[in-house]
This record gives sequence, structure tokens and C-alpha cells, in this order.
Amino acid sequence: MTSRPVIDDLSSFWMPFTANRQFKAAPRLLESAKGMYYRTTDGREVLDGCAGLWCVNAGHSRDEIVAAITAQLSTLDFAPTFQMGHPLAFEAASKVAELMPAGLDRIFFTNSGSESVDTALKIALAYHRARGEGQRTRLIGRERGYHGVGFGGISVGGIAPNRKTFSGALLPSVDHLPHTHNLEHNAFSKGQPAWGAHLADELERLVTLHDASTIAAVIVEPVAGSTGVLVPPQGYLQKLREICTKHGILLIFDEVITGFGRLGKATASEYFGVTPDLLTLAKAINNAAIPMGAVAASRTIHDTVVNNGAQGAIELFHGYTYSAHPAAAAAAIATLDLYRRDDLFARAASLAPVFESTAHALRDAKHVKDIRNLGMVAGIELEPRDGAPGARAYEAFVKCFEAGVLVRFTGDILAFSPPLIVNEEQIQHIFKTVRDVLATVQ
Ligand SMILES: Cc1ncc(COP(=O)(O)O)c(C=O)c1O
Repeated sequence: MTSRPVIDDLSSFWMPFTANRQFKAAPRLLESAKGMYYRTTDGREVLDGCAGLWCVNAGHSRDEIVAAITAQLSTLDFAPTFQMGHPLAFEAASKVAELMPAGLDRIFFTNSGSESVDTALKIALAYHRARGEGQRTRLIGRERGYHGVGFGGISVGGIAPNRKTFSGALLPSVDHLPHTHNLEHNAFSKGQPAWGAHLADELERLVTLHDASTIAAVIVEPVAGSTGVLVPPQGYLQKLREICTKHGILLIFDEVITGFGRLGKATASEYFGVTPDLLTLAKAINNAAIPMGAVAASRTIHDTVVNNGAQGAIELFHGYTYSAHPAAAAAAIATLDLYRRDDLFARAASLAPVFESTAHALRDAKHVKDIRNLGMVAGIELEPRDGAPGARAYEAFVKCFEAGVLVRFTGDILAFSPPLIVNEEQIQHIFKTVRDVLATVQ
């Protein structure tokens, strides 16, 4: 691959979720990628320990996906899906539906996780209204939840810096469950922690406070990723499901990270044996080759909304110009075929024990305060530096990158979620690099 001249003006691109001035003073630029590796503009190979942003589950630049997109763009570059359609949109929806928990087989396409979340919240309100319970408008999220950056998503989300600047403009009628993270009880848990299922009972408290008749939906990430890998306590999700069902509240699982194999199953819902009413998807739906997201809705919700509309009238006033974009749909079909052909979800399940033991072997590494994991996700929490939260993990992240391994960091937590094609040697290499780096971090 020929290298392009390194860009010398970094000023125009206002970078998302980035310390812009810090980054532009010492940029980290990726130029190409194949399989498990990125290549930087200065010609270094970097092992991808986090599947880009938890999204490239089949590894980078897969020929089958690239070919499908290329062929699609020269056949049909764009087609509207408002009162029009194109075959791949329907085919992609059927393929996604096949992987969803039984009954969640109505698929609404979006272009990102944030859009999927806002779409799911709106569908929840539309559903209750269609059944004559339009007063159910309250939404319940969870502390430390991340549901993207739309106004709906930050309102139900529970990450203070994401909300603070916009606090005056958040959705009204939102409440939050407590998060389930507790190092006193659960430090160094392998898989699901034993302590904490009772925290789901807080939902009963909120129901008592607000009355079930005002509550539309509860939204949680089955495994919280962006806030630092928070694995649900044993029995917790089951309890949430029971309480929601009891009170006629919809349960939304935000599976933007957990969808498509991250836990060794198609969905976290399948992994935990708990079926929500709505399930949001995005990352990995088409291996991140083209922006795409989706909401899987139960047939009941879909039919209630659609059958409530007058014949010939639009039933749900919602959608995106690029919903089911032909190139994104083609990429999704090729990706889902690839996942099946290579049995990548089963591969993730079979690698998970090695991933777990290799991650937990860092228990005695410098600065390590907790290690947690499930499926092909792990988090290593570091003791924060006095007076400078996040600085230690940032230093570790930069040093890992310089040592040829890409990891994520959030606060003082390092997060790991490699493509599901990773092999054991690469898993060892990722965590060995982290151990070596931590030894040098102040
Ligand atoms: C659980 C969850 N929901 C929503 C989102 C938002 O997705 P996007 O960045 O594609 O808008 C993310 C992104 O990390 C996520 O982890």
C-alpha cells in the first residue's frame, strides 16, 4: 500500500469525544487496516485490542464485505426508503431478524447507535399511545448508562459529563436506576458478579414513586461497555424483566455493543436468556464498514403501532434519509453471512475462557484495582492518580499505542474488545503489552 503524504493541517476537523488540542499536538493517525491490525501513517502495525470502537467484529477490511459494498455502489448507490424501497433493505432486515430473540423480528434501520436509542424510545411512546395509554411517557435509564449522544440518549444515559452542558435541555420525565458497580462486593469477579441482583428492586421503588401508569420504558445496556465494562449481577436482568412485565413497562436492551457476537451469542438477550421488548443495535451490524444501526421490535409492538394507523396513513412519523442505505444493507448482508460462515459467535464463546484468564492474570500488575469480564469484553480499572482522574489510563493508552496495541480507555478504566477473529497468541500479546506498559506508568 502506498503511503499518502502525512496531513499537515489538522485544524478543520473538530474531533468527536477527543481532547482536540492535546491530540493535535501529538496526533495518532491510522492509515489502513487488515484483519487484526491497523497500520499508522508512520508505517507501524498496531494490534487492534478493541475492534475499532467495539464494532469491527469480523476483523478489518474483509474482502467479502468490501466486494459487496463496491458492487452495490455501482448498481444502486441510493434509494429512498420513504414510500419506496429496494430489495436489499428487506433482505438485510430478514437476516437481522433471524438473529434476534424469538418474537423480535421487526427491524427499523438507523445509521448509528444514538439514532437506534432515540428510535427505540420513540417507538416505546408510540406503542403506548397506540394502545390508548398515551400518558405513559416517563423513561427510566440507569446511572453510568451510555446510550449515545442524542437528546433522548443523554437523558436516559447516566454519565455526568455527557449531560452537564446540556442539562437544561434534557428530556423531562426521566428517572434513573442505580448502577450495579460495587468494588467492595464484586472486585475481580470473573463473569457475572454474585452480588447485586437486589439493585433491580429499585425499579419497584421508582414505580411506587411515579406510578406505573406514567412509565413507558426502562432502558439498560445488558453489559455496560462505554462506562467501563459493568457486567450485570447474576439474576439482575431477569428481575428487571419480571418487574417490567408486571407493570406493563417496556424493557429496552441497548445492545449496540453486545449485539452480533460480543458475548459469544448473537445477542446478550440470548446469552442471558432474557428477552426485552425492544433491542437496539449498531456496531458490528455490518462490521462498521458503512454507518448503520437498527432497532428490533417485538411483533406485538410493531403490529400495535402499524395496525393503529388509518389505511394509507403513515403509522410512525419517524425515519432517516439513510435508513437501510443500499451500501449499508449490502454490507450487513455480507457481514451476517460471514459471521455465520466462519461461526464467529461460537469462536468468541470458545475464546472467552482464555480471554478471561489472560485478563485476570494482570491482577498483580501495577495500579490495577479491578478486573472484570464477560464474553469477549474485559475491563481493567486502575487506581486514579491523585487529583487527576483519567490521566493514568490515558498515559497507559498512549503507551500501549506506541507499543503497538490499541486499547480503549474511559475514566481510569482500560477496555478490551478485540475483533472475534483474534487468536490466543494475540490475546496474550495484548495483555502482556498492558502489563509491561503499566509497569512504566506513573
Ligand atoms: C450501548 C451504546 N449505545 C449507544 C451508543 C451510541 O452509538 P453511536 O456512537 O453509533 O451513536 C454506544 C456507543 O458506544 C453504545 O455503546
